[in-house]
Amino acid sequence: MSELFKRTHMCGELNADNINENIILNGWVSKRRNLGSLIFVDLRDKTGITQVVFNDDVPKDLFDKADSLRGEFVIGIKGVVKERSSKNDKMATGDIEVFADDIVIYSAAETPPIYIKDDDNVDDNLRLKYRYLDLRKKKMQDNLMLRHKVVKCARDYFDESGFTEVETPMLIKPTPEGARDYLVPSRMKPGRFYALPQSPQMFKQLLMVGGTDKYMQIVKCFRDEDLRADRQPEFTQIDLEMSFADADDVIDVQEGFIKKVMKDIKNIDVKIPLDRISYDDSMDRFGSDKPDTRFGFELKKLKEATLNSEFKVFNNAEDVRGICIANASSEFSRKNLDKIINEAKQYGCGGVVWIRVEDDKYNSSVNKFFDQDALKKIADVFGAKPNDLILIVADKTKVVFDSLGFLRRHMAGKLGLLDENQFNFLWVVDFPLFEGDEETGEMKAMHHPFTQPKTEQIHLLDTEPLKVKANAYDIVLNGVELGGGSIRIHDKDLQAKMFNVLGLTDEECDEKFGFLIEAFKYGVPPHAGLAYGLDRLVMLLLGESSIREVIAFPKNQNAECMVSEAPGIAGKEQLEELGISVNE
Ligand code: AMO
Repeated sequence: MSELFKRTHMCGELNADNINENIILNGWVSKRRNLGSLIFVDLRDKTGITQVVFNDDVPKDLFDKADSLRGEFVIGIKGVVKERSSKNDKMATGDIEVFADDIVIYSAAETPPIYIKDDDNVDDNLRLKYRYLDLRKKKMQDNLMLRHKVVKCARDYFDESGFTEVETPMLIKPTPEGARDYLVPSRMKPGRFYALPQSPQMFKQLLMVGGTDKYMQIVKCFRDEDLRADRQPEFTQIDLEMSFADADDVIDVQEGFIKKVMKDIKNIDVKIPLDRISYDDSMDRFGSDKPDTRFGFELKKLKEATLNSEFKVFNNAEDVRGICIANASSEFSRKNLDKIINEAKQYGCGGVVWIRVEDDKYNSSVNKFFDQDALKKIADVFGAKPNDLILIVADKTKVVFDSLGFLRRHMAGKLGLLDENQFNFLWVVDFPLFEGDEETGEMKAMHHPFTQPKTEQIHLLDTEPLKVKANAYDIVLNGVELGGGSIRIHDKDLQAKMFNVLGLTDEECDEKFGFLIEAFKYGVPPHAGLAYGLDRLVMLLLGESSIREVIAFPKNQNAECMVSEAPGIAGKEQLEELGISVNE
């Protein structure tokens, strides 16, 4: 066993103030160069890199040991800090170097399969397979540190605001929260399953029945859904619930948190109250319920302006709308535009019509059907100017929103308008209570079935449920849904009506939510809450484009853990014990 050199400093800490000090460092060999009479070693830990020098005045065995070092060897060194003759202003420790007089090699290392370099271009799956090497990168350690600070900030803030952190169970009954559950078989009750929680929703409501008053939890949630840059099968929520609170109470507390987190982490003063926009306005203006307001390109209705043409696609469509990309037509070649339009088709539209506003005329993909006057009429809806590019989608309203919502953000991205240092928070309020399932026509709760309808619209539940709005709110940052919540139903008759509209029989309600309904019989306070996606918040604070960059061991696109190779195969005996047989 090698002796442990007790370190005096971290590798990224040393500077001119330490000159002539005797110091001890531990870390990984980032680079070693042998210049004959001098060996330079860049020594790395999570704080940064220090240059260590071995000159040939040192005993030969020490010099030979230094020469035997290779990348990623783990070592300790003792030495004296000296001023560098040629300073490196790109390095935090670039004014100094350490002349070593002792070394210990804790462990040797094989050549690592990925470079430990922030800007390497390595395949994602390889990065995830060797995540423990990837994590040695300064950027990754900085990301983990920032995540830690956000968690601490949340705990401090909610503690000061009277919230109690309470853990809720991880092995629960399968719940109906929208996504698929991850199931865990029960050994004691063969054939029965636990589910991993999609969120602590029902338990936090039970905590309100239990008198906890203000609850918070930094909690893992599990959802078996298709993965995207901002979705992981297991992710973390900052989860909250408050008794005797209305929407403004919840929003006030959250705005205090946003203000604190932005000040503590980014030193930015966020102006509160944050803007609020209704769901309907958000869809109309941005084609999305999570609008990115860092740039314009708002949607405009074009049905009227396009009425008198022979163009059937527009005439027959339920809805025709467009966006105007200001002063950017010349940025997009025809080929470029075709590619973008193809990408928009994944949102269901058959195509996208474009109009280029030129100096003295309009040029369009539908020149055949629209003369210059007709094109002008459309351009005037936007007040378009030369070099503007208009994109139009005609289809069902939902497809129009989805396609233009995508195009708006995609074009802004191409034009470099997604400034990651600008933080546009806003609340989206007045969500519909229900949405009709596209395929089955079945009614689904847009948030979850415990969300309270607007009091003045309760009478519409029987007749026009799709018109009923919910007391639900989402907090959105730069086009990403950061969090969502609602006022909960605490009236058992209203809850029963809600289940009824959702088409649930008494037996189904009992099976799925019986314990919550039972609990509500014994005195339930009015309550409301919300949950943030912690991973998403940290991702945006760091200007990252995927939550994988802020999770130590994330899953890949196929929901696999590349490090441990989960999901794995269960042994025959294990399966027998659980009463499970697997179809090969
Ligand atoms: P909701 O389902 O809106 O609400 O989730 C709250 C927030 O969690 C984050 N989120 C995710 N982050 C990463 N990967 C995922 N797969 C994922 N799914 C959701 C989002 C989202 O806004 N119980 C309710 C909250 C409440 O009503 O209090 C709930 O879970 O940032």
